[in-house]
Amino acid sequence: MKIPKHVAVIMDGNGRWAQSRSLPRVAGHYEGVKRAEELVYTCMEYGISYLTLYAFSTENWKRPKEEVRALFSLFESYMKSKREEFIEHQISVNFIGRRDRLPKSLVKIMQETETITQNLNKIKVYIAIDYGGRDEILRAVNKILKSGAKEVDEISFSSFLDLCNVPDPDILIRTAGEKRLSNFLLWNLAYTELYFTDVYWPDFTKEEFLRALEDYAKRKRKFGALT
Ligand code: FPP
Repeated sequence: MKIPKHVAVIMDGNGRWAQSRSLPRVAGHYEGVKRAEELVYTCMEYGISYLTLYAFSTENWKRPKEEVRALFSLFESYMKSKREEFIEHQISVNFIGRRDRLPKSLVKIMQETETITQNLNKIKVYIAIDYGGRDEILRAVNKILKSGAKEVDEISFSSFLDLCNVPDPDILIRTAGEKRLSNFLLWNLAYTELYFTDVYWPDFTKEEFLRALEDYAKRKRKFGALT
């Protein structure tokens, strides 16, 4: 089977999953973390080298304060409790997005996690927190202006983006029925295969992921050329 090198995921539907069970929305996020972790292991099993997960967007600040707080505290406690496991399984964990608006304690854990896992190479996991595609492009443009460069091409421009040195995603998976990009990896998804499923993220099991991989394997990728 043709296996993607890089899988990107918009993990949508945690809230609806919880509401459909009369649980608080945050229960959906807790269950969602478990699926994210399982997905990392399934990706390793299938030899997928890069996994990028959309955990919190630049637009998610519009959510109620308590939910935002609960998400940050979930990210923080998860990273803290899993570090040994990342090392044991050779999982490199990195973060994309801006860090200037996040709680300092979370940023500290993010930096520490990146540092202690940076040379691990079974899989590279990128977690997008306070990430927006437009924000990323603007940050890149401002870095370029500061660097004094007068002109850039696709390759040099990419080197200013958050996922520099990472191949573009081969497949983007979005759960929970919405069919949009929601400001995710706008530059990198130019030629990515899109896979949408109605399944809520907390129900996105290994079996569902294998369905997405099977679908991807059947796609003919042309990158604008003739086959
Ligand atoms: C979208 O569902 C989901 C989020 C905004 C949070 C995603 C975060 C996780 C699954 C946790 C991942 C954690 C780590 C450490 C990788 P929603 O709340 O928008 O659902 P709804 O559309 O049904 O309301």
